[in-house]
Amino acid sequence: MEGSVVVWLTCSLLAISCSVNAVYTYDPKSIRRRNLLANGLASTPPMGWNSWNHFNCMIDEKIIKETADALISTGLAKLGYKYVNIDDCWAEIYRDEKGTLVPKKSTFPSGIKALADYVHSKGLKLGIYGDAGYYTCSKKMPGSLGHEEHDAKTYASWGIDYLKYDNCNTDGSKPTIRYPVMTKALMSAGRPIFFSLCEWGDMHPALWGSKLGNSWRTTNDIADTWESMISRADENEVYADYARPGGWNDPDMLEIGNGGMTKDEYIIHFSIWAISKAPLLIGCDVRNITKETMEIISNKEVIAVNQDKLGVQAKKVRMEGNLEVWAGPLSDYRVALVLLNRGPDRTAITAYWDDIGIPPKSSVVARDLWEHKTLEPRFVGNLSATVDSHACKMYVLKPVS
Ligand code: GLA
Repeated sequence: MEGSVVVWLTCSLLAISCSVNAVYTYDPKSIRRRNLLANGLASTPPMGWNSWNHFNCMIDEKIIKETADALISTGLAKLGYKYVNIDDCWAEIYRDEKGTLVPKKSTFPSGIKALADYVHSKGLKLGIYGDAGYYTCSKKMPGSLGHEEHDAKTYASWGIDYLKYDNCNTDGSKPTIRYPVMTKALMSAGRPIFFSLCEWGDMHPALWGSKLGNSWRTTNDIADTWESMISRADENEVYADYARPGGWNDPDMLEIGNGGMTKDEYIIHFSIWAISKAPLLIGCDVRNITKETMEIISNKEVIAVNQDKLGVQAKKVRMEGNLEVWAGPLSDYRVALVLLNRGPDRTAITAYWDDIGIPPKSSVVARDLWEHKTLEPRFVGNLSATVDSHACKMYVLKPVS
């Protein structure tokens, strides 16, 4: 085949085996064409808020506006929480005579454009929710299947900055058929829109998501419990190699502040999401946020790990029963580290340099990100800490010699 290359790539990832048969013309332009999405967004994981975890379908424009106000007044916006994302249930069940989605009259009477203007006037960004099927998951509003171009243009004209795109009530075809249609539609809609693929990890979107979107869910919906949170962290971790600037693994939104876990468990939730370069989308009612929740989600040092410019997702580098060491590289030769105790007893956990990519004889300065303290003295070879049940320690390590 002249000028063409046939690539048969067979890969296996843990228990997953896949075959990708790609045929493309071998010239530089075609390489670019293979990546449908080039919107220049998501150089670091997105940060913001989403309505679903706390409000489900009980949303209206007042809640969205007050949330934008609260992100400003609490100082969260300044820390990077910029996206105000409306989830399911914002539209009427019918489209108008031109086929355009209609904001629900009883709850969003001013329309989405007015809301976007309001949110933008505060220096924030507005996100919205759609579905690659006939109806969204709530079945209370239409999906975009067959209307992708029209809906993408509508979103752009309203000033939307972020689209979460769900996978309910479809025609049964694969997401790899339906999602690219919306990617292309967004790319020609005239406005850069962050594209969040919400396919729940069913078809291993980490393997194909970076060509289509800026993030991809790797798990089913999170619930506000320890088991749900920690199992999503586990499921997301196996795809660590696929995260990178421009496209991130998404183990679902934060539950911190919704009341179902202890303070230490919420600290684990935030630490693991941060080190895993997950989107940090607050899922509680920020209008009535407690001091404890603020203390967790406004930890600048943990946020800095998430937003580090290197953009490498951490992995579990050692597991001994309930005791785990998670680590990943940061810029400037630093390493982010979490010592996690999933068990019932207070126990010592050790991270060995050998396991976390630091030369064994290096002397290391360790910064404790929850105590906000640089530890004395320096550490050589390993770092040990005693960690409470269902608690963690988080550090940034900097080799100095
Ligand atoms: C799915 C998604 C959730 C949420 C709901 C809304 O379950 O995974 O995050 O968007 O739909 O109905």
